[in-house]
Amino acid sequence: MSLRRACVIGHPVAHSRSPLIHRYWLKEHRIEGDYVREDVAPEAIERFLDRLGERYVGANVTIPHKEAAFRKLKRADPVARALGAANTLWFEDGALCGSNTDVYGFSAHLDESLPGWEKRTVTALVLGAGGAARGVIYALLERGVRRIAIANRTRARGEALARQFGEKCTVMDFAELSPRLAETDLLVNTTSLGMKGQPSLEIDLLPLKRAAAVYDIVYVPLETRLLAAARARGHPVIDGLGMLLHQAVPGFERWFGVRPKVTPALRALLLADLGEKERR
Ligand code: ATR
Repeated sequence: MSLRRACVIGHPVAHSRSPLIHRYWLKEHRIEGDYVREDVAPEAIERFLDRLGERYVGANVTIPHKEAAFRKLKRADPVARALGAANTLWFEDGALCGSNTDVYGFSAHLDESLPGWEKRTVTALVLGAGGAARGVIYALLERGVRRIAIANRTRARGEALARQFGEKCTVMDFAELSPRLAETDLLVNTTSLGMKGQPSLEIDLLPLKRAAAVYDIVYVPLETRLLAAARARGHPVIDGLGMLLHQAVPGFERWFGVRPKVTPALRALLLADLGEKERR
């Protein structure tokens, strides 16, 4: 293999911004490499991954293949094992290895936005109980958050997450949110509510602890109604775009040997591509 190439595997994958991010870094570091999209249907994913190494030094994996990619790993790191899903693949001695860098992306963006947040965060409230929530809960526990409340439309999914992550997690219904908000230091939306084309997340922030931070992992639109309402009430707000940018860092480093930086210029490039403007 002459040119080092990586790809993002998804279905559909046309919307993926990963090529924009990685090509920006390749150019910045003057690396002779490329990063492309691979649209792979579910019935073809196993065979595609079997032959990945013939063409690529590694890959990102997005919906709906993260679980299938995890199952193909010869070596999964502890994060991928805890999540049962891999979004970043590379090779070591020919063996397919994988991690889930959404966890790193979530924490890194929080560290950048609110340095020292973990010292002020005793209790977090996580909305949603899908794959994204699993990554967020892993990240919060890893950083020492002591209590995590999980609210989800389908209570059984929240309960399954609480069982996996242990006694620091409790489960509630959306209807029970109000009293819990008063003791919440960090509120995180991991549901698809508020995303372009989806219903918005209707939650009354009036009872939310005054110093609480609000993080929405949605990034289209950049400022969801949840974040707009939180900002208007004076809460620190954290959007989902930084998580997308930071989760790309470990993969790039593995494939191309340089640890890239998430800079304002890169964020501006993505914002322009999304047709968004920075809110302050
Ligand atoms: P991901 O892997 O991105 O987290 P997912 O597993 O499909 O995606 O999870 C989506 C999350 O958004 C879930 O928590 C889902 O709630 P359910 O478990 O009840 O399905 C939540 N969600 C999606 N649409 C919703 C809606 N209209 N109202 C409330 N919650 C919704």
